[in-house]
Amino acid sequence: MGFSDEVKAASEQIAAAHEITIISHIDADGISCEAILSQAIARQGIPVRSVFVRQLEPLTMPQVPDDSSFKIFTDLGAGQQNLLAAKGLKEKDVLIVDHHVSQPGEITYPQVNCLPYGYTKMSAAGVSYLIAKALDEANIDLAKLAVIGNVGDMMARETCGLVGPVREQIVEDGVRHRSVKVCKKDLNCYGTATRPVHLSLAYNDDPFIKGISNNPDGAKQFLKKLGIVQQTSDGRWYVWEELSDDDRRQIISALAQQLIANGESVDRLLAETYRFPDEIPRTPLRNAQEYATVLNACGRWTKPAVGSAILKGDRGQAYREAEHMLGNHRAIIRDLLQYIIETGVTELEHVQYIDVGGKYPDTIVGIGAGMALSKLNANKPILILCEVPEDKNLLKVSMRTNERVIARGVDLQQAVSEASSEYGGSGGGHKIAAGAFIPKTAEQEFVNRVNRILGEQFARTGAGNR
Ligand code: C5P
Ligand code: C5P
Repeated sequence: MGFSDEVKAASEQIAAAHEITIISHIDADGISCEAILSQAIARQGIPVRSVFVRQLEPLTMPQVPDDSSFKIFTDLGAGQQNLLAAKGLKEKDVLIVDHHVSQPGEITYPQVNCLPYGYTKMSAAGVSYLIAKALDEANIDLAKLAVIGNVGDMMARETCGLVGPVREQIVEDGVRHRSVKVCKKDLNCYGTATRPVHLSLAYNDDPFIKGISNNPDGAKQFLKKLGIVQQTSDGRWYVWEELSDDDRRQIISALAQQLIANGESVDRLLAETYRFPDEIPRTPLRNAQEYATVLNACGRWTKPAVGSAILKGDRGQAYREAEHMLGNHRAIIRDLLQYIIETGVTELEHVQYIDVGGKYPDTIVGIGAGMALSKLNANKPILILCEVPEDKNLLKVSMRTNERVIARGVDLQQAVSEASSEYGGSGGGHKIAAGAFIPKTAEQEFVNRVNRILGEQFARTGAGNR
C-alpha cells in the first residue's frame, strides 16, 4: 500500500465511524491537526470531540476517554503504541495520524505516517489535511491550517520554504483557494507582520549579519542610511509587510552586499514565506510563522482549545485570550534564552547540556533549546532538562540539533529513546528534535549515556563532532 492508499483508507475508516474522539498534541502542529480533522469530520455529520495532551505518556493516558468512540491520535501515537495497547484499545477502534518515528508495540494500529515514505518535510497537519481532502474535496479551505502546522513544526526552516508534497499539493491548494499567498523571495526573517522592521532584522541571526543581528540600533541606522522611511507621521513603526516592493528589494540587496563583503554566504537570506491575505494586516495571524507562534503560545500555556478556536475562525474572545498568552510566551522564551546563554551549558564530548530546574515550564524548554543552539556551538546537539510540576520524581528532557549534524549520522530520537528506556523513562521524536521523561535520580547517568550514544552515532559515519 502506498502513502495515498493509506490516506484513502483512513478517510474511509473515518467516514464509517459513528462517533469520534481526536486526541492531539498541544503544539502548533497538533492544534492544526485537530482543527483540520474535527472540522472535516463535523462536516460529514459525525459527532466529534477533542482532547489535547502534552504528550502521550502514562501520566496523561487517563485523559484518553474510556468510551466506545473511534479514536484518532494526531501528531502523536506512532511512538506510543504500547501505551494504547496497555489501555486496552482495539485495533479496529484506533487510527494514528503522525509523522514521528513509529515504535511497534504489542499491537500495530492502523496508521497514516508520512515518514516511512521518505516525506521528512511533512508534519502531521499535512497528513491530516490530505485525509480531510480525501474525505471531501471541498475541504480545500483547510489547506491554510496545514501550512501553519507544517511551518510551526519547522518543516520550512532548513529548506527556506516548504518542499515536496506539502509545497506541491497543500500550498497550491491554499493558493487556489486564495487563502494562502506565496512570497517566493521574501526576507528569511521572523516577525514580518508585527515587528518594527529594525527589530525584525536585529532579532534574526540566521544568517548572522554583523552590525545588524542582535543590534537594534545598528539595524535602525542601516535602514536610515538606505533612506527607508521607518515610521508613520504619527510615530508608529512600519512592519516589513507594509513596506513597498522597492523598499524591500533595496533592503534585501543591501543585506546581501553586507554579507558578501563579510565573506559570508547569502544562501539563507531569502526564503519562501506564506501570507494569509484574509487576515487583518499587522496581526500575528498574517503569516504562517507568527500564526504558529500564537498556537504554540496557546498550547504551551495549557489552552490549546483557544488556538483551535482561532483556527476555526474565532476572532473575538479566543483571539483576545491568545494575544495575552502570546505576550507571556514571548517574554518567557526571551528570558529562557538569556538564562541559557548567561548560565552557560556544560560541554561533554558530543553533547552540551543544561538543567534549568523548575524555572521554566517543561512545555517550552525545547523551543528555548532550539533557539539557543544557533547562539552556541551549533555542531553539538543540545540537551535541556527541567522539572515536571506534576511529578517531582521526573525530569523532562528536550534535545535539538540541525541538518548538518544529522548528515553526520546523528539521530536524537534514537539516542533519547534508547537512553531513556534504559533508566525506566520514555521518549521519542525526530532525528532533529526529541524529548523524553526520565527519573530524576538518573539525570547524570542519562546525560552521560546520551553522550556515549551520540559518540557511537558520529563514529559510525566516521565523522567527529567538530
Ligand atoms: O512533536 P513534534 O514533532 O511536534 O515537535 C515539534 C518540535 O520539534 C518543533 O517545535 C521544533 O522545535 C522541532 N522540530 C524541528 N525540526 C523538525 C521537526 C521538529 O526543529 N524537522
Ligand atoms: O517537548 P519537545 O518540544 O522537546 O519535543 C520534541 C520532540 O520529541 C517532539 O516531536 C515530541 O513529540 C517528542 N517527545 C516524545 N516523548 C517525550 C517528549 C517529547 O516523543 N516524552
